[in-house]
Amino acid sequence: MRFSFTLPAIFAVSVLASIKSGDPSGDDTLAILSAFADCKKDGHIIFTNTTYHVGQVMNTTGLKNVDIELKGTLEWSTDIQYWLNHSLPIGFQNQSSAWFLGGDNIHFYGHGYGTLFGNGDTWYIYSNGTSNLHGRPHAITIWGTTNSLIEGLRFIKSQMWTSTVTRSEGVELTNIYINNSCSAEASKVKRCNVNTDGVDTIYANNITFLRWTVESGDDSISMKQNSTNIYMANNTFHKGLGYAMGSIGQYPGELEIIENITAVDTYFYNTGYAGRVKSWTGRTTGSPPNGGGGGIGWARNISFTNFTLSSVDMPWYITQCTSYNGVQGGCDTSKFKIENMRWGNTRGTTDRNFVASLQCSGAAPCTGVHIFDNNLTVEKNGTKTTGYLCSNVEAPEGFNCTGKAPNTSG
Ligand SMILES: *[C@@H]1O[C@H](CO)[C@@H](O)[C@H](O)[C@H]1NC(C)=O
Ligand SMILES: *[C@@H]1O[C@H](CO)[C@@H](O)[C@H](O)[C@H]1NC(C)=O
Ligand SMILES: *[C@@H]1O[C@H](CO)[C@@H](O)[C@H](O)[C@H]1NC(C)=O
Ligand SMILES: *[C@@H]1O[C@H](CO)[C@@H](O)[C@H](O)[C@H]1NC(C)=O
Ligand SMILES: *[C@@H]1O[C@H](CO)[C@@H](O)[C@H](O)[C@H]1NC(C)=O
Ligand SMILES: *[C@@H]1O[C@H](CO)[C@@H](O)[C@H](O)[C@H]1NC(C)=O
Ligand SMILES: *[C@@H]1O[C@H](CO)[C@@H](O)[C@H](O)[C@H]1NC(C)=O
Ligand SMILES: *[C@@H]1O[C@H](CO)[C@@H](O)[C@H](O)[C@H]1NC(C)=O
Ligand SMILES: *[C@@H]1O[C@H](CO)[C@@H](O)[C@H](O)[C@H]1NC(C)=O
Ligand SMILES: *[C@@H]1O[C@H](CO)[C@@H](O)[C@H](O)[C@H]1NC(C)=O
Ligand SMILES: *[C@@H]1O[C@H](CO)[C@@H](O)[C@H](O)[C@H]1NC(C)=O
Ligand SMILES: *[C@@H]1O[C@H](CO)[C@@H](O)[C@H](O)[C@H]1NC(C)=O
Repeated sequence: MRFSFTLPAIFAVSVLASIKSGDPSGDDTLAILSAFADCKKDGHIIFTNTTYHVGQVMNTTGLKNVDIELKGTLEWSTDIQYWLNHSLPIGFQNQSSAWFLGGDNIHFYGHGYGTLFGNGDTWYIYSNGTSNLHGRPHAITIWGTTNSLIEGLRFIKSQMWTSTVTRSEGVELTNIYINNSCSAEASKVKRCNVNTDGVDTIYANNITFLRWTVESGDDSISMKQNSTNIYMANNTFHKGLGYAMGSIGQYPGELEIIENITAVDTYFYNTGYAGRVKSWTGRTTGSPPNGGGGGIGWARNISFTNFTLSSVDMPWYITQCTSYNGVQGGCDTSKFKIENMRWGNTRGTTDRNFVASLQCSGAAPCTGVHIFDNNLTVEKNGTKTTGYLCSNVEAPEGFNCTGKAPNTSG
């Protein structure tokens, strides 16, 4: 463990609450909120090995020195109209959440079996492939949190994004299992689990993700605006889109950054990408959440090394073409700057004959892109993977471009 949560004896746990499930109303939310209120400071909250029904939003922030032990399952209700009306806004795009958890020196742990069950199939069917549905909640938002450890939890069928870490610093999240795959019925919906990201960071600094296993229909782990000093290791992704930096640059004129992101020792099975960076174009078309563009800033010092790939479509990817649904063009207009990428030392297989597709903006060409030691073969025929598509990549290091990158936003 990287740091210890042992409290000095004088601050020994003062409150212990074992929450009872089985409220006659069928909703255990009030019992849970009351345990958090009792144990707000120097507390230890225990969810025993049973199922708790959560039918209302929870805002349990401002905790101090609290252990939260999940031995059972939290199961969120499927009252879609309730959640659409009440989920808590996170202050970014139109995103919202079913649960806000936060404070200083929190230890939230599930021993590898404590489970957050979002009943996502209901949402996957209801949303019918819509990406950003106003009010559709993330399972949990870690908010205003410092010096904390979250570990050994399972997330099954999250309603939308599984987790968001925001306005937080010095948080480690370790041994997390996420499976947002669709039921047979939900699978009839095209892109049934779109937007079921594993985790997103926004306005977050010094965050560590170790040993995550993520099966999702979207970004596995994503850094969004003002994510800095993020370390990730020993993660495994099934399907989904791998490590996603962005989309960023959506808010006209706003300065946003992604800086010092490191990922090592990661396994990818049938993912769309290994690592990628996505920015909006420099044109403003529509407004957030679904429109925007024209933001400024940079993505800098992004190191992705020692990855093992199995049937990955496009290992390394950059696009600066993101725009309002269906709007094409403007790929050379973004002033958002992408620099100092270190991507390499990989092994394994790709679906196609491409190591990278790098579409950088003419208005702010990419610099310091170093792509090295990619020992990859094409899955279906075993030949070496050799293609590098580029636009506006200045002085590529470790590779030569073999063609022009397409103007697609991916
Ligand atoms: C939790 O309870 C279930 C059903 O009673 C049991 O099968 C399971 O082993 C228990 N899990 C743990 C970790 O105690
Ligand atoms: C949701 O809000 C709508 C419109 O304000 C209202 O008609 C409806 O009763 C609300 N439903 C729930 C479950 O809160
Ligand atoms: C959560 O509760 C805190 C403290 O009462 C409050 O400041 C904050 O605005 C609440 N957050 C949301 C999203 O409701
Ligand atoms: C779901 O979306 C598809 C298009 O992807 C559309 O054909 C279908 O009618 C939609 N279903 C419902 C119930 O809206
Ligand atoms: C980063 O956060 C960890 C807790 O995850 C903490 O131990 C460490 O001191 C922090 N580093 C810096 C430079 O603040
Ligand atoms: C990843 O896990 C392996 C095996 O447990 C371990 O040897 C290695 O040090 C880990 N890597 C990191 C960066 O933690
Ligand atoms: C993001 O970080 C930059 C650099 O610290 C800061 O200038 C900017 O205001 C931040 N943006 C937002 C939206 O908070
Ligand atoms: C990124 O890392 C460099 C080198 O360690 C450091 O100088 C810089 O301050 C870091 N940037 C941020 C935003 O923390
Ligand atoms: C690279 O990854 C392999 C396989 O996961 C692991 O055994 C090895 O220790 C890693 N090497 C470094 C330098 O991190
Ligand atoms: C293997 O497949 C790739 C991707 O379709 C193709 O570009 C390459 O030519 C194939 N190699 C052979 C020997 O057929
Ligand atoms: C590349 O991978 C092949 C097959 O996995 C392996 O035999 C070879 O030693 C690797 N080469 C390098 C330079 O790592
Ligand atoms: C790139 O092409 C140049 C000129 O043909 C060659 O000298 C160099 O070795 C190539 N670099 C790589 C990494 O293949």
